[in-house]
Amino acid sequence: MLKVERISKTFGKGSINEKLAIDDLNLTVNKGDFIAIIGSNGAGKSTLLNCISGVYGIDSGSIMLGDINLTKLPEYKRSKFIGRVFQDPLRGTAFDMTIEENLAIASTKNKSIGLQRGLNKKERELFREKLALLDMGLENRMKQKSKLLSGGQRQALTLFMAVVSEPKLLLLDEHIAALDPGAAKKVLALTDEFSKTPDLCTLMITHNMKAALAHGNRTILMKDGKIVMDLYGEERKKMTVEKLIAQFDIDNDRMLL
Ligand SMILES: Nc1ncnc2c1ncn2[C@@H]1O[C@H](COP(=O)(O)OP(=O)(O)OP(=O)(O)O)[C@@H](O)[C@H]1O
Ligand SMILES: [Mg+2]
Repeated sequence: MLKVERISKTFGKGSINEKLAIDDLNLTVNKGDFIAIIGSNGAGKSTLLNCISGVYGIDSGSIMLGDINLTKLPEYKRSKFIGRVFQDPLRGTAFDMTIEENLAIASTKNKSIGLQRGLNKKERELFREKLALLDMGLENRMKQKSKLLSGGQRQALTLFMAVVSEPKLLLLDEHIAALDPGAAKKVLALTDEFSKTPDLCTLMITHNMKAALAHGNRTILMKDGKIVMDLYGEERKKMTVEKLIAQFDIDNDRMLL
């Protein structure tokens, strides 16, 4: 489904700060894959997702999503196929708009701009039903501004908005890192649910190694802009956090939490 072939990304080319953040990286993601990505600070995890979503152009290589060649597509065109959630819950929703307005925008993201409008009664009912599945009472607050929501509620809504336009790819960059443990658990459970959408591919960056082994079907470890481990199947089932640390010389405090 997603084929990232030999991509490299250098920041500050020619300057004294030149940094090769992604180094000749290959990644094939199959339909339905839910991949957890771990790696120490500066390993290139966020840069990889930013290259896939088109925030950054790449130096070389290619990125294909099914038949679509993303390599040179601008970010706004790629966003039709890609849902994203970031660490900061404030980043995902329009603060001063109601839950309903936020959803209306999210759901028409993959349609032409001329079709953007408010929700009709039928759509409102459909969203109400879907929001109820989040189990946060948001279905009764659709006319409230999203700024009134807690961090966990807002992140759950952001996740919901990211999948409501039925993207082919869901990119999550430490999306639970800023939440309290209870909210993090809930949003992670929702992530598990949403990732089961047929044909959707999910890439989730996390610094929590335990979560990276327990959620999804594959775990990838990045180091110095490369993928140094790609675990799935039986091998993954047998892996433990302790073994990971010993085998890959992991010395990152944040990852050990
Ligand atoms: N916009 C940028 N300009 C210059 N250098 C950058 C930029 N973004 C990232 N880098 C550098 O590229 C390298 C990879 O950064 P990246 O943010 O991808 O790491 P990461 O694995 O996401 O780390 P973290 O766990 O801290 O989020 C780092 O050395 C970083 O300083
Ligand atoms: Mg990062």
